Amino acid sequence: MDFSLSEEQIMIRDAARDFARTELLPGVIERDNHQKFPTEQVKKMGELGFMGMMVDPKYGGGGMDTLSYVLVMEELSKIDASCSVIVSVNNSLVCYGIQAYGNEDQKQKYLTKLATGEKLGAFCLSEPEAGSDATSQTTTAIDKGDHYILNGTKNWITNGGTADYYLVIAQTDREKKHKGINAFIVEKTWEGFEIGPKEDKLGIRGSDTHSLIFNDVKVPKENRIGIDGFGFKFAMKTLAGGRIGIAAQALGIAAGAYDLAREYSKVRKAFGTEICNHQAIAFKLADMHTSIEAARLLVMKAAWDKDNGNNYDMSGAMAKLYASQVAMDVSVEAVQVHGGNGYVKEYHVERFMRDAKITQIYEGTSEIQKIVISRGLLKD
Ligand code: CAA
Repeated sequence: MDFSLSEEQIMIRDAARDFARTELLPGVIERDNHQKFPTEQVKKMGELGFMGMMVDPKYGGGGMDTLSYVLVMEELSKIDASCSVIVSVNNSLVCYGIQAYGNEDQKQKYLTKLATGEKLGAFCLSEPEAGSDATSQTTTAIDKGDHYILNGTKNWITNGGTADYYLVIAQTDREKKHKGINAFIVEKTWEGFEIGPKEDKLGIRGSDTHSLIFNDVKVPKENRIGIDGFGFKFAMKTLAGGRIGIAAQALGIAAGAYDLAREYSKVRKAFGTEICNHQAIAFKLADMHTSIEAARLLVMKAAWDKDNGNNYDMSGAMAKLYASQVAMDVSVEAVQVHGGNGYVKEYHVERFMRDAKITQIYEGTSEIQKIVISRGLLKD
């Protein structure tokens, strides 16, 4: 089995590592404190090709594989998980969704701008009363011939206030349950589209999370993705790939927290020696590193499945389930290694601990991942 990366993959990983250290690190605490969206940094990530990495170059993308994408996600998340979720939603939910299931006109009109970072995308599935239970949504899109009329509220939408284009999942025929759901590309400037208040979050505070309200928004029929009734499958298929991106984010949070703990343990002294010389700390580092390596293998396997045309529902869900638990465990331990300093913002690890939690919640909670995995195990 060959675990080596290609020259191109190493190059893109190193570019992301360099960018994260020089461009993301300097303002990361301030953005977290003030819930400041990284506008400049997102623009630069667009210039570097990070916003549409897997998109076909003919639509302005990087034409890269999923493995390159997860390498970039890990590097960005080692420094700033708020920035990496912006990248993740744009790449693996919005760009992927349009590239895989949109028509040529939709690709020309929307994907070309999203892939270059000129425009930003958001994915709108969750509702106040329908997060995990995705078929129970109440947002409606009523067919009026050449257009739909969209009404309802979406919640916890990443890039909610800053996006330009929104993939909105809505009920078009309640009787048909999941077969009566469609997905639409909606533009921010359309009449009746209102952005709700920004959420004041525990973590990933630099990312922009809002509720969205649709009041009789007129959506042209040509903005529906796929055939009538394809919306639920569209959401499930798109989320399956999105989960690989979030698994890589969780991996990066764990790896970033571990790096800080390791470095700190080599300089901080207690009882006459650097604390890494105490087994209480050294064993923690050994456990942290081992679990990160295991998470990395699951993330890479899921990316490899996607790149090789295998089904990745289960491998993506397993990667997300495990890596998000590792992000949580490792970031808590990283705070512990830092002792009192771990509780102070300037040492960064408390932010990793806060950021880690969301990876067990968005793009399907850990419990949802277990549903996906167990159904996959038991289907035949
Ligand atoms: N690929 C293709 N089709 C799929 C599929 C997949 N991965 N998963 C399900 N389907 C199909 C099924 O085959 C079935 O179709 P048929 O009737 O034709 O056979 C249909 O979809 C319904 O499937 P289920 O009966 O399995 O549906 P369910 O209601 O039991 O739900 C679930 C399954 C896995 C729990 C699903 O509801 C789910 O994933 N929920 C979580 C939603 C989620 O992740 N939300 C996150 C919001 S987005 C976000 O967080 C973005 C952000 O901003 C960061």
